[in-house]
Amino acid sequence: MKKDFLSIVDLDEGDVDRLIADAMRLKSLRAEGIRHEPLRGRSLAMIFEKASTRTRVSFEVGMTDLGGHALFLNPQDMQLGRGEEIRDTARVLARYVHGVMIRAYRHSTIEEFARHSSVPVINGLSDRMHPCQVLSDILTLRERFASLRGVRLAWIGDGNNVCNSWILSSALTGMEIAVASPPEYRPKAAIVEQARAAGGRVSIHTEPAEAARDADVLYTDIWVSMGDEPERAARLRAFAGYTVDSRLVAQASPDVLVMHCLPAHRGQEITDEVIEGPHSIVWDQAENRLHAQKALLVRLLGEREEE
Ligand code: CP
Ligand code: NVA
Repeated sequence: MKKDFLSIVDLDEGDVDRLIADAMRLKSLRAEGIRHEPLRGRSLAMIFEKASTRTRVSFEVGMTDLGGHALFLNPQDMQLGRGEEIRDTARVLARYVHGVMIRAYRHSTIEEFARHSSVPVINGLSDRMHPCQVLSDILTLRERFASLRGVRLAWIGDGNNVCNSWILSSALTGMEIAVASPPEYRPKAAIVEQARAAGGRVSIHTEPAEAARDADVLYTDIWVSMGDEPERAARLRAFAGYTVDSRLVAQASPDVLVMHCLPAHRGQEITDEVIEGPHSIVWDQAENRLHAQKALLVRLLGEREEE
């Protein structure tokens, strides 16, 4: 595996298979109350430029479960917030900790940090990507489908960070990704081209019903992501008609699974009826952040095995 996890494409198919198998094993051990502490004595620094519930808690509890320790760092409380350079912070933290997780506004911040860090760096969400979310979601789907090859996921709404990571994952899993977005909020053409060049199957639509037709999975996310708040009014106007509601669910496969990375805004991108309904697997998704990230932490921060 590569040193850092900045994008889902930092993994190859073998890495994904190993991580999912490890995550399933770690999930069973935890359910059985069996202690497994391969990261004893290891520390993870977690830098959050933006808010978080799931990412923060799952990484921190994950490190504790594995016998290690996690530090929550708010850039405003660090010298970073007073202008210390990213490259200096990266070099110094690497002298103390065994890995760093960063949630940042700009993807380039995380890339710069990783370039100067001698310890693994994990992207905990940027404006461009959310690879930990998609890795965990792959675990959630692998618990339900023996193989993901040919499984059709319809992304409804904003062509944002989570959507980009799904698009880029297509070649790794063999899933088909159909995106329905208002034209001005489509995923970036460069991401779609990168995914297709790697063999991914991605289609871009405007009509939600077109993408949702016969879908095995319907996925949505908030319309106003962190950092997009100044565009709030325009976004709410543009996304009207992109709500995942029972009418849209009826267009999909009868056994469709409904996913959302959370936090959800009921009545906007998803209705209360659908998120609370029988197709929704959002709470399993949230739980699996813990298990998938623990597998990732063991691989990146643990003793390196010969591969
Ligand atoms: N899905 C997700 O990353 O949630 P948080 O913003 O709460 O971490
Ligand atoms: N697209 C959302 C995901 C939150 C987990 C955001 O970036 O705010």
